[in-house]
Amino acid sequence: MTKPDYEKFFSSRINLMSPSPIREAVSKIAYKSKIKPVISFAAGEPDPDVLPRDIYAKLASEIFLNVKKIVNYSPAEGVPDLRDEIAKFMKEYESVETSGENIIVTVGGSQALDIVARIMLEPGDIVLTENPSYVNTLLCWRHYGVRIVGTPMDDEGLRTDLLEENIKKLKNEGRLIKLVYTIPTGQNPSGITMSMDRRKHLLEIASKYDLLVVEDTAYNHLVYEKAEIKPLRSMDKEGRVIYVGSFSKVLGTGLRIGWLEAPEPIIQKIRYSKQPMDMCAPVPSQYIVLEVLRRGLFGKVKAKAIESYRVKRDLMLSALDKYLPELKHTRPVAGMFILLWLPEKLDSFKFADMLLDKYDVAVIPAAPFFVDGSGRNVIRLNFSMAKPELIEEGVRRIASLVEELSSK
Ligand SMILES: Cc1ncc(COP(=O)(O)O)c(C=O)c1O
Repeated sequence: MTKPDYEKFFSSRINLMSPSPIREAVSKIAYKSKIKPVISFAAGEPDPDVLPRDIYAKLASEIFLNVKKIVNYSPAEGVPDLRDEIAKFMKEYESVETSGENIIVTVGGSQALDIVARIMLEPGDIVLTENPSYVNTLLCWRHYGVRIVGTPMDDEGLRTDLLEENIKKLKNEGRLIKLVYTIPTGQNPSGITMSMDRRKHLLEIASKYDLLVVEDTAYNHLVYEKAEIKPLRSMDKEGRVIYVGSFSKVLGTGLRIGWLEAPEPIIQKIRYSKQPMDMCAPVPSQYIVLEVLRRGLFGKVKAKAIESYRVKRDLMLSALDKYLPELKHTRPVAGMFILLWLPEKLDSFKFADMLLDKYDVAVIPAAPFFVDGSGRNVIRLNFSMAKPELIEEGVRRIASLVEELSSK
């Protein structure tokens, strides 16, 4: 008997793949929590106590009894009524005029982002992003052999002036730039929200240099301060914005319902890409979201989420100010995350491991979110999941480990 040499069977693409620090951390925490309670500032998920499971249970029971094809395939592009309902949702919540025909329902925003790469990106293409940016998009798009070039942010979001400089430089080198990927509201991992001026400038740049913009709106509905912010897509007059939507962060990540909204020629290609991939997004989840939207429940869940996460964000910010006043961190007006810069000499991976092992607190090392190898000493803190009464204690333990390691 000869055992196969598996290595020779793998595609060369495998070398472009690396583990997601978030998914890895979630696995570690799951094991650890079996032994001891862990305060988790790790994954970016809604608090299960905010989600209306009782309402979902009632809806699911109605749907399973009344929709004959509830466990059959839907069209690849999604249940037609849900596509129409999402179009209405985009008008009501995002001031975007569109129609169900321009919408494809996907398995979360994650699949939407993968599809964009499949239909648009080739090895060697350049993609421009905020630095840092959402690690799972970076990992997913790197599978396609693209080069990701980051541009820094400040409190107003992406430095569009520096973005333009980058574009000029890359064009001079004869590089093909295709997309700008941005998370303008409650950015992951920084929590930063892009100002309206920057949003306008970004659209001007896209037009001037003939680029498309992928607008990831995962956190658009979790805004904690009164802010005059509109999605890029609502201001896009030329059809340059591909809108990636997700119901995960308000209605629940496990439903796995997201969508892509794009101009018709792009939608056609998305359909062809999705058809053989998964036939369709999970049909029971599509119907649950459809009923949530139809019955006007989204606004209610959203209001409850905002109320809860605003309190938790404030608790985390005051704890950081109290226990770690000398360290730099972001102050989000939206989203689920705060970035924290540890003292320069600390390595965030080792720090996160020690914090979990010794202090039972989970955080995400943020280095993989940085596209240029910087950010070795940065960690990402999620504030939506932990119980409010444990947030200060979690931050206090982070401060204890910082002190312990700094004095060595
Ligand atoms: C910026 C961003 N985009 C997209 C996603 C994907 O979420 P989902 O696939 O659950 O819609 C996430 C999840 O963390 C995210 O943070």
